[in-house]
Amino acid sequence: MSGRRGIFITLEGPEGSGKSTQAQIVADFLRSAGQRVLITAEPGGDPIAEQIRAILLHSDSAIVPEAELLLYLAARAQHVRHIVLPALERRDVVISDRYADSSFAYQGYGRGIDLAKLRMLNDFATGGLVPDLTILLDVPVELGLERQKDRNRFEAESVEFHRKVRAGFLDLARLEPQRWVVIDASQTPEEVAGRMRRAVIERLQLENK
Ligand code: TYD
Repeated sequence: MSGRRGIFITLEGPEGSGKSTQAQIVADFLRSAGQRVLITAEPGGDPIAEQIRAILLHSDSAIVPEAELLLYLAARAQHVRHIVLPALERRDVVISDRYADSSFAYQGYGRGIDLAKLRMLNDFATGGLVPDLTILLDVPVELGLERQKDRNRFEAESVEFHRKVRAGFLDLARLEPQRWVVIDASQTPEEVAGRMRRAVIERLQLENK
């Protein structure tokens, strides 16, 4: 990963945690602080990744967990190399609405795929690109599902599945506290935005940049 030196921020969370709204708010804040910001989202970001997204989220046919994981990783390989790395090399701040931790939470903790295997495959897909800061917008499962308007394959999953996903995110954050900030996303959007702003300033030491 030599040569890259923008800042890579990822937003993670269960369904209905408000990530996309908050991504815009943080981006506006960073831009007003003089940073160049690229907002992107997974799965997607480049034409191939968008085609894979359509299979993953809107195909009516059954996808086995192994194929599901590999498709998310294939989309990520495209996204990292065509979108994220070039922006980091331009020294932009990149904000990605979901990244590798979603695969750990959904396909690992949710579907039960072995986490060590998943880590190896994800490293291959990403070339080892790890975010500088990952913000978990944590929301209770029932509240998140209630908020969610667009339906996709995952919103049809059982509440039990979503509980595993949420617990997975919390576990990942606990295991790597230097990279993660956990924010209670059941608060109002304004409160969440305030917390996000503080987290970004603190963790990235923006005033020193
Ligand atoms: P999307 O419509 O982008 O929803 P959200 O606003 O929740 O991000 O759908 C992405 C879905 O894909 C979401 O349900 C989480 C799931 N997902 C995985 O299961 N694994 C992954 O690696 C990624 C990136 C997403």
